Amino acid sequence: MTTIAQRKITVVGAGYVGMSAAQKCAEKNLAAEVVLIDILDGRAKGIALDLNQAAAIEGYTTRVTGTSDAKDTHGSDLFIVTAGLPRKPGMSRSDLLGTNGKIITQVADYVRNGSPDAFVIVVTNPLDTMVHLMRVKTGFPAKRVIGMAGVLDSARFSWFIAEKTGANVRDVDAMVLGAHGDEMVPMPRYCTVNGVELGALVDKASIDAMADRTRKGGAEIVALLKTGSAFYAPASASVAMAASILNDEKRLLPCACLLNGQYGFEGMYMGVPAILGKDGVEKVVELPLDTEARIGMQKCAGAIQKDLGALRDLGLL
Ligand code: NAI
Ligand code: 2OP
Repeated sequence: MTTIAQRKITVVGAGYVGMSAAQKCAEKNLAAEVVLIDILDGRAKGIALDLNQAAAIEGYTTRVTGTSDAKDTHGSDLFIVTAGLPRKPGMSRSDLLGTNGKIITQVADYVRNGSPDAFVIVVTNPLDTMVHLMRVKTGFPAKRVIGMAGVLDSARFSWFIAEKTGANVRDVDAMVLGAHGDEMVPMPRYCTVNGVELGALVDKASIDAMADRTRKGGAEIVALLKTGSAFYAPASASVAMAASILNDEKRLLPCACLLNGQYGFEGMYMGVPAILGKDGVEKVVELPLDTEARIGMQKCAGAIQKDLGALRDLGLL
């Protein structure tokens, strides 16, 4: 395991999610160097310079390098991949398949060649398909290629629960599994407020309404922003996963992992609770599911298989 003084994190894509992720990595002193790479060279360099100048005020020692040259990413310990188009109002995440699939393929090439031992956290949408593609194209072990969605979707659910109950959001634990799409499966049964079951605090109709708002959480922000999609919480979620791996925190976080029989699925990525530590995905945790959740997971698997099929039709997989 590398020490902080040796660590190098590359954030791919210097757009809204990428620049926020780079900022959070620096502010947490998660690595000695954060490389921010974008096809827009000036954008990556400009944001890196801005973040380096903020260091004098914030007091971090991380150095941020902006670049469009893949060579500068070589030797990275961990990648956070945010390169790709975000949704516009009315678009589904699947509408991004072709364009973002080509970008992931390009990125995988230099990840594999320049940083063969790296961990890769994929953020680009459609998430469950793009993380699958990244794994195939890098050929890395599945425990080192992980998708970010469940931490974000669960954080959204937590916020709605905190608002509804009046409780401090720090005391809320929420869990969302399945695909990062309209089919995602919020798990009220595994939601608590400081150990108190959600069902003891809120009626079923309110829980259903919060679960539904969580499923549409990304679209709600897209509709408000008009251009682009959410970025602060997605960046926080990605960096929490990176910290758990790099600092061997062994947090149990819902994330997209390659399933190998768990939950009854084989050879596909899907959002499940996993322990993230120094080896990446150290364990996929299998929770007992009720019938509703099991049906929900099946629907997610169907939607993901459909996107994987579309990716094959495009010749990208
Ligand atoms: P953005 O448009 O602000 O930034 C994307 C950046 O990627 C742009 O600066 C663009 O120049 C860059 N880019 C394009 N091709 C590239 C390449 N080959 N190499 C390096 N950089 C490249 O978009 P934003 O808001 O940062 O979102 C990024 C992606 O993350 C989108 O696909 C979005 O849907 C997804 N997303 C996923 C979430 C999740 O929960 N998994 C949450 C939020 C966003
Ligand atoms: C989100 O959920 C767009 O997937 C992104 O905010």
